[in-house]
Amino acid sequence: MPSDPLIDQLKAALQASPTNLPLRLLLARKLMEATRKDEALALLVDLEPQALGTADATDAATLLLDGGEAGWAERVVEGCYDRGRSSARFLHVAARVRAELNDWNRAAQAWMMAREVDPALTDPALDEKLAAARPEPPQKPALRVVVGGKEGRRDVEPAPTGQTLTFADVGGYDELKKTVHRKIILPFQKPDLFQKYGKQAGGGILLYGPPGCGKTHLARATAGECGAVFMNVAIEDVLDMWQGESERKLHALFQLARDRAPAVLFIDEIEALGGRRSATIHQAAGILVSSFLSEMDGFGKSNQKVLIMGATNVPWAVDPAFRRPGRFDNVVFVPPPDRPAREAIISILLRNRPARDVDAAAVAARTSGFSGADLKHLIETAFDLVIEEAIESGGEPPLSIGHVTRVLPKIRPTTTEWLSTARNYALYSNEGGQYDDVLAFIKEHGR
Ligand SMILES: Nc1ncnc2c1ncn2[C@@H]1O[C@H](COP(=O)(O)OP(=O)(O)O)[C@@H](O)[C@H]1O
Ligand SMILES: [Mg+2]
Repeated sequence: MPSDPLIDQLKAALQASPTNLPLRLLLARKLMEATRKDEALALLVDLEPQALGTADATDAATLLLDGGEAGWAERVVEGCYDRGRSSARFLHVAARVRAELNDWNRAAQAWMMAREVDPALTDPALDEKLAAARPEPPQKPALRVVVGGKEGRRDVEPAPTGQTLTFADVGGYDELKKTVHRKIILPFQKPDLFQKYGKQAGGGILLYGPPGCGKTHLARATAGECGAVFMNVAIEDVLDMWQGESERKLHALFQLARDRAPAVLFIDEIEALGGRRSATIHQAAGILVSSFLSEMDGFGKSNQKVLIMGATNVPWAVDPAFRRPGRFDNVVFVPPPDRPAREAIISILLRNRPARDVDAAAVAARTSGFSGADLKHLIETAFDLVIEEAIESGGEPPLSIGHVTRVLPKIRPTTTEWLSTARNYALYSNEGGQYDDVLAFIKEHGR
């Protein structure tokens, strides 16, 4: 094998900081360019699609696609697709991956959105492919991706769209799960029954609470519980769409949900639809709210097997029109996890990973105010330590409570600030008791 000084340097650098993802991706790219494909792919074996930022996911998916691993690239792309806020580059590679897998409709959709974000983007080869694709998508070829890794080779089945979660993946929040089950999942699964008793079908659920406390996670799990496709819409995409062809595209979004039904259409940062954040787009956004609501009302009339879920970190900025009957009439507070919930979340985060004697209850007791995302950050940071150790010692030590304790002082809870803002709204602007749950939480947890 020819030696390449740049590659050798990058390798040494990566040895020194093995968790540096951009560095890993750069090295993989260079190896690929040097036609050392197997080495490049081996670097990507342990990538966790869910843990990648959009930029890294874009690079990783491009590498995998160029390396002939389209199925694997798809896992990376779909793991990230749901997270909203997409860049043109990301959407472009998503379109290429889907086209490679003959998933024509969704390829075209991603490609359309990519050019929505960046109209200057071109890809004649992709255009040609899409143009040649028949309207009836051909049968997906059976895929089997073999990944060469450290521990030899293993088979990876390409995941469908993203990873399916269920309530078993949501730690704690038992009451919340019960509420969602009773008010959301049952009516969704048995609309006729509910209609018989004069209950209005349709309507949506609005989740609110501090960032990182599992709104998106819960919405995903709700989709999983319903056996529905999960569609995560970034508000930026809708606003972009608005500036483009407005209602037609908003309608297309709802239509897409209908086509893919049963589906959960999850709209994050729903407050942005109200346009209160900027006077200049206020008027346009006002129309956007009403077209959104009329789409929603339309869903209510003819049950479409589409569940609409919204989420916001700033409920006080949400247009009150959203809360009228038949719309987001279930407004649900997703609080910071209490101690038992933290314990459950930690156990979930440690599931199937090498850990020994990590007492989740003890960690939970010391992480008051931590969000689920904070806990995730804590555990990931602790694993970084373990990996460093593994490299130094050459062994494969498991995570221990000592690692967690060492990184704990570095991680700060992020829910406190949200709670104090929410407290003000709850005390001084609690029309119709809409923040009673927040007040109850603060009272119980003494903040
Ligand atoms: N109850 C929970 N159970 C398991 N994991 C959780 C829970 N809450 C949060 N998490 C973890 O924290 C991450 C961030 O949560 P997320 O749903 O994105 O928060 P939000 O949408 O409220 O900002 C999730 O990806 C998940 O890994
Ligand atoms: Mg979220």
